[in-house]
Amino acid sequence: MSKIALVTGVSAGFGKAIAEKLAACDYKIIGAARRWDRLQKMREQLGEERFLPLQMDMTKTEEIDRALADLPENWQNIDLLVNNAGLALGLDKAYEADFKDWLTMIQTNIIGLTYLTRQILPQMVKRNRGLIINLGSTAGTVPYPGANVYGASKAFVKQFSLNLRADLFGTQVRVTNIEPGLCEGTEFSNVRFKGDDERAEQLYQGAHAIRPEDIAETVAWISSQPEHLNINRIEMMPVSQSFGPQPVHRF
Ligand SMILES: NC(=O)c1ccc[n+]([C@@H]2O[C@H](COP(=O)([O-])OP(=O)(O)OC[C@H]3O[C@@H](n4cnc5c(N)ncnc54)[C@H](OP(=O)(O)O)[C@@H]3O)[C@@H](O)[C@H]2O)c1
Repeated sequence: MSKIALVTGVSAGFGKAIAEKLAACDYKIIGAARRWDRLQKMREQLGEERFLPLQMDMTKTEEIDRALADLPENWQNIDLLVNNAGLALGLDKAYEADFKDWLTMIQTNIIGLTYLTRQILPQMVKRNRGLIINLGSTAGTVPYPGANVYGASKAFVKQFSLNLRADLFGTQVRVTNIEPGLCEGTEFSNVRFKGDDERAEQLYQGAHAIRPEDIAETVAWISSQPEHLNINRIEMMPVSQSFGPQPVHRF
């Protein structure tokens, strides 16, 4: 019998590639996002036996509740939860950033992710099986100017993933945090720069960055590991990306 994966942020970027890859690995996919037209296209592409669209806004816990309550009976036992929906907004210094952007990142990357996880975890523990894969970021470890709340939200996701492992001790439920660096081929920077597509495009010029397919391969690899093995964290970067010096401001 096919396993069931719930993948958030399935309408673009990583989530779309992850859904396609998992479908090819014989998973049935519950694909969540806000944009209904994109979800419908994915259902047409993957077929309604394989893909169930779930429209929900991760910033609204009541929408998450309603969407989960509406799941047909044969789609309710979730084997794999991929907490991928997330975003960065702006690259402004903390003293210039728009606080509304901070709230949106906190509501999506932290509150939405933790709420959905809290709703799905009991059934995994009850069945004593399941895997949660979170999408963190190198920004959760490596500080950079303008990352302020985005980086902090991904640091939260990293520590939340590790703490889940601590709570799940004694069960067969597994948790992994994937922490990518620069990735192209997604809408991430178009969203971050609020539709300034030229600025987004410039970021990737000549970088040969990570592709959504690379992340999808990683998700498929993690989920294909034997059940006695937990991959705690995977940090990945394009070869073209590295670490900077620690700057010293001289007076
Ligand atoms: N691209 C990178 O460089 C990079 C690097 C490291 C980590 N990440 C992380 O990887 C994840 C995916 O990023 P991506 O590059 O694939 O971004 P993307 O192309 O912008 O896709 C983001 C997805 O999240 C969904 N989403 C955003 N806000 C939502 C909300 N309030 N409710 C429901 N769904 C929401 C979007 O769907 P709708 O708009 O249809 O709702 C979309 O499907 C994010 O968590 C991101 O932080 C990205």
